[in-house]
Amino acid sequence: MKPLTTTMIPFLLLVIPIVGAFAACPPVSLNTSTNVWKNLSLYHNVYYSEQVLAAGPKIQDPVLQKKALQIADVGVFYWVNNVSNIQAVESAVGNSKVPCDRIVGVVLQGIEGRNCTSPRFKVTAVETYKREFVDPLSKIIGQNPGTAFAVIVEPGPLGNIVVNLDSNLPSCAELRSTYRGNAAYAIRTLNLPNVVLYLDAGHGGTIGLDKHLKLGAEELAALYKLAGSPSQVRGIAVNTANYNSWDLSPGEFSNPWKKPENFAINEQRFITMLGKELAKVGVPHHAIMDTSRNGAQGWRYEWEDWCNIYGAGFGRRPTAEGLGLELADAFVWAKAGGVSDGTSDESSPSYDPFCGKVDAFKPSPEAGEWNQEYFEMLLENARPEIEVDHGN
Ligand SMILES: *[C@@H]1O[C@H](CO)[C@@H](O)[C@H](O)[C@H]1NC(C)=O
Ligand SMILES: *[C@@H]1O[C@H](CO)[C@@H](O)[C@H](O)[C@H]1NC(C)=O
Ligand SMILES: *[C@@H]1O[C@H](CO)[C@@H](O)[C@H](O)[C@H]1NC(C)=O
Ligand SMILES: *[C@@H]1O[C@H](CO)[C@@H](O)[C@H](O)[C@H]1NC(C)=O
Repeated sequence: MKPLTTTMIPFLLLVIPIVGAFAACPPVSLNTSTNVWKNLSLYHNVYYSEQVLAAGPKIQDPVLQKKALQIADVGVFYWVNNVSNIQAVESAVGNSKVPCDRIVGVVLQGIEGRNCTSPRFKVTAVETYKREFVDPLSKIIGQNPGTAFAVIVEPGPLGNIVVNLDSNLPSCAELRSTYRGNAAYAIRTLNLPNVVLYLDAGHGGTIGLDKHLKLGAEELAALYKLAGSPSQVRGIAVNTANYNSWDLSPGEFSNPWKKPENFAINEQRFITMLGKELAKVGVPHHAIMDTSRNGAQGWRYEWEDWCNIYGAGFGRRPTAEGLGLELADAFVWAKAGGVSDGTSDESSPSYDPFCGKVDAFKPSPEAGEWNQEYFEMLLENARPEIEVDHGN
């Protein structure tokens, strides 16, 4: 046997801590022919839990205060939508911190310009996207092979692309090719054994329209095939950060004068209808649905409205049980309820008119900031209600 040479020392120093770090859980290999949520429950977002625990004591009503404490334990996704968020994911889930029976949820949203008809539209270059988002995220996931990850890929662009397909705007053609190239790179790179991937498919109110279902499926197929049909893609994510109901019938917007051409009146119908189209074009189509803020219905003015909807409530807690649709894997909480979607302050440079609409909660702080009153409203309007022990 060769003696240890000095050149081997740096190598050993590198290997020992890594081996030591993931001794806690054996390497994860997710079989995407199965519903992985049956055995793994969604890990909590440690930053959100901290926000919730800080919010609790500010609540006057003692029952509501107890309800808030329940929310601190609920599984919630991590959002990777700016460079500093990625470091935050690493600190939260690195070094085997996550118990073996959990799955870490990540929403990858590195494509910045998601509305091609907006004057603020700009292209996210593939090189930037790779360097700032996908490669660092894939590194973190690769360094934690004993931890399972579920990644929702790029909410936002798909609906905008499909809605504007016949606009002939150069910016919309740019968004389409940016989305396709960037998201394909993402799913090809994140196609690791400890990852299950869900392509964001918008919600019933956008892609669910009769005239959009086939086009939406074809866009997802183009991206999936460009990426080389990665094995870890399980299907689609629906209703991310949105408010649609799972099974309300007639749906909130099934009134004919509102949407005569849309039969995807709830997300259960949407998954079924889009699933049929995806099957035709060879794309996996099991689904997860965000139920973080869909507990209360009937508050939106228009189906398109997405910003801090007034009257909303927390929805079903994350679960893989009792969904009643084979295509549906799990209800998840992708959005961290209480974190603002955008500011209602018209003088802010980041003001979006959707956040000033009649159905938007006011005042609301900048996107990503905590809104205590909104959080309390979500608690009060939660359905099912948040159970608390009334004993003491
Ligand atoms: C994945 O699950 C399917 C369905 O249960 C099974 O047929 C297949 O053998 C599994 N693959 C691996 C690699 O375990
Ligand atoms: C869940 O775990 C059990 C026991 O380890 C295993 O038999 C089963 O295949 C797993 N199910 C899924 C969907 O992974
Ligand atoms: C996109 O931007 C246009 C122009 O500002 C606006 O009318 C439209 O409502 C926006 N779409 C979304 C989904 O925000
Ligand atoms: C990234 O987003 C978080 C919240 O989502 C925010 O607190 C932080 O300031 C952002 N950082 C940058 C560099 O934009």
